[in-house]
Amino acid sequence: MRKSVAGELVGVELPVERGCPFAPPAEYERLREQAPISKVRLVSGAEAWWVSGHEEGRAILADRRFSSDRRKDGFPIFNVDAATLQQLRSQAPLMIGMDGAEHSAARRPVIGEFTVKRLAALRPRIQDIVDRFIDDMLATDQRPVDLVQALSLPVPSLVICELLGVPYTDHDFFQSRTAVAVRRTSSPQERQRAFAELRAYLDDLITRKESEPGDDLFGRQIARQRQEGTLDHAGLVSMAFLLLTAGHETTANMISLGVVGLLNHPEQLALIKADPGRTPMAVEELLRYFSITDTVTSRVATEDVRIGGANIKAGEGVIVSSLSANRDPAVFKNPAELDVERGARHHLAFGFGPHQCLGQNLARTELQIVFDTLFRRIPTLRLAVPVEDLPFKTDAVIYGADELPVTW
Ligand code: HEM
Repeated sequence: MRKSVAGELVGVELPVERGCPFAPPAEYERLREQAPISKVRLVSGAEAWWVSGHEEGRAILADRRFSSDRRKDGFPIFNVDAATLQQLRSQAPLMIGMDGAEHSAARRPVIGEFTVKRLAALRPRIQDIVDRFIDDMLATDQRPVDLVQALSLPVPSLVICELLGVPYTDHDFFQSRTAVAVRRTSSPQERQRAFAELRAYLDDLITRKESEPGDDLFGRQIARQRQEGTLDHAGLVSMAFLLLTAGHETTANMISLGVVGLLNHPEQLALIKADPGRTPMAVEELLRYFSITDTVTSRVATEDVRIGGANIKAGEGVIVSSLSANRDPAVFKNPAELDVERGARHHLAFGFGPHQCLGQNLARTELQIVFDTLFRRIPTLRLAVPVEDLPFKTDAVIYGADELPVTW
C-alpha cells in the first residue's frame, strides 16, 4: 500500500456516512493505511487534520497545545449548518468546550459525583429503573416492541433524573421532553423548543434547590459554593444541561446498538449469558466496536506541533476519529471482530486526557445493568426485522438507531 506524506490532501470529504452499521466507512481504512494523520476536506470547504492512529489520537487528546474551544477559528465543527455554527460560537462554553484552568475549575467540583462509591449507591436505583421498564415490556401483549422507546431512551433519562435530583412528580415531563429533544424525527423547531423547556425547567429546579438543598448532586454543589461564598446559579444550570445532553442520547444509543451487536453475534451473547462476570468486558468491547461519538473528539492547535509525521500549524483543526483509532490493528488484533473477551478498556470511545468522559463510569454501570437484566429476564429476545432494515442514524454526530423492533 502506498504511504503518502502526512499533510497531503487525500481526496476524502467529511463527514462520510457509515454504510454498514457494524463497520467504519471504507474511506477510514484508506486514510489510516496512507498515514496515521492526514489532511482532509470538510463539507464546509475547510481543511482539517484527520487522526486515524490510536497512539497519535491519545497523544493529541492528552496534549494541552490542542484546544477544545469551539469558538476559536479553525475549530473543525461540521455536520451543522452555518446558523447553528454561529449560535455555537456565540454561546458561553460548557465544560466540554473549555481549556486549562477554566476547564479544571468547572470539572473538579463534580468529579466526586462519579466515584465508584457514588455509583455503587446509585446501582440499586438504576436496577429498579431498568426492571420497571422491562416489567412494562413483559406486560404488553402487543409485539413487536420498539426497544428505543421502551428501554433505551427512558432508562438514561430517569437515571439523569436520579443524578440531578429531579422530583418523582416531574419525571414524566422530563422524560417526554428529553425524548422529543433527541428524536431524529422531531423537526428542528420541536427539538429547539424541547431543549429550551428543559433548560427553563433545570433553571427552576436549581432555584428550588437553592432554597432547599437536598442530598443530591446539586444539593452538594450548592452547599459547597455557599461555603466558599461563590454561589453561581448560571454555572449550575449549565452544568445540569451538559450532564443531560452529554449523558442521555449517548447512553440511549449505546443501549440500542449493544443489543443489536449482541443479537447479531449469538456466540458472543452466549458467553455473557453463561457468565455475567464477562459483561463489564463486553461493554468495553461494544463501546470500542461502535465508537458512537466518532468525531466529538475534535480540537484546534494553539501552537505548531509535529506529530505522527504531520506538521500541524497553530490554528489548524484536528479531528481524532475514535472509530478509526478503535479499529487500529496495531492496538486491537482483528479489529473488525466483536470479541467480548478482548479486554478493550484502552479504547478511545470515552476520549482521553483532560476531557475524558466525566460520566463514563455511570454509562458503564447503566450498560452493564441493562444488558445483564434484559437478556436474563427475556432470554429469547430477538430482532423483529432483519438487521439490514433497521433505521440506523448513519449520518448523525452520535451514531445510533431510531427504532429497534424486538420480539420474544
Ligand atoms: C455511552 C455513553 C457515553 C459516551 C460514548 C460518551 C462519550 C464522551 C466523549 C468521547 C467525551 C470527550 C469529548 C472530548 O474529548 O471533547 C465525553 C465527555 C463528557 N461526557 Fe460523556 N459519554 C457518554 C456518557 C456520558 C454520561 C452518562 C455523562 C453524564 C451523565 C457524560 C458526561 C460527559 C461530560 C460532562 C463530558 C465533558 C467532560 C469534560 O469536558 O471534561 N457522558 N463523553
